[in-house]
Amino acid sequence: MVEEARKGRGAEETYREVALLHMAGISDGFLATLGVRFLTLLYESIDNDPGSALFVERVDGRVVGFVSGGRGMASIYRQMLRRWPRLLLALMPALASPSKLHRILEIVLFSRKQKPVPGCPVAELFSIAVDPPYRGAGVAARLYERIKQRFTTDGESAFCIVVGDGLLPAHRFYQNMGAQPMAKISVHNGQGSTLYRHDL
Ligand SMILES: CC(C)(COP(=O)(O)OP(=O)(O)OC[C@H]1O[C@@H](n2cnc3c(N)ncnc32)[C@H](O)[C@@H]1OP(=O)(O)O)[C@@H](O)C(=O)NCCC(=O)NCCS
Repeated sequence: MVEEARKGRGAEETYREVALLHMAGISDGFLATLGVRFLTLLYESIDNDPGSALFVERVDGRVVGFVSGGRGMASIYRQMLRRWPRLLLALMPALASPSKLHRILEIVLFSRKQKPVPGCPVAELFSIAVDPPYRGAGVAARLYERIKQRFTTDGESAFCIVVGDGLLPAHRFYQNMGAQPMAKISVHNGQGSTLYRHDL
């Protein structure tokens, strides 16, 4: 059953389990390279941001899938900056790498830009992942429906999803769920992604 992340077992442990699923499932994305501490803080900040949401599905108390979404990452990065001692600690290994530092700045600056394509919805599904043994059983479909429901309740008329070109199963999944490819974009230097739109 899909539920809010903070319900059930300790929220701290839930954010860490979500971070580990992100690292394993969306491993070719840049955020995964920033490590489990950074991702744990990121998902805690998403869950604490009033404009965003984090839903999980658990089996025997353990997180086997999650979805996150909201109205852009800018307010979430602000939440993270407020917890700066933890952020600094989480980013310590990355700060030693000029290329990683450059990309971190790129992400923060990109998140401040209005939207990559004119007419792109403000609401966005940020990430979704399911633990491999639990795939193909409708877990992601239930999570997707839950975030759709949340966007509808919030009065959104559509939401977008940015999907890296390397994530082939994800493209098939989103198209299966009714999202329409809207544009090809480049989020970080040279890395191609497709922007999807889902009308509610
Ligand atoms: C994409 C992902 C979330 C799908 O999770 P899942 O729980 O296996 O998906 P579901 O079982 O709920 O499938 C829902 C629908 O999508 C389809 N689908 C899911 N994965 C598919 C794939 N690899 N190829 C074709 N169709 C697929 C299913 O057939 C199903 O359609 P149906 O209802 O008509 O049968 C999962 O493969 C995953 O975690 N991938 C790694 C993380 C990732 O790439 N995330 C997206 C980036 S943000």
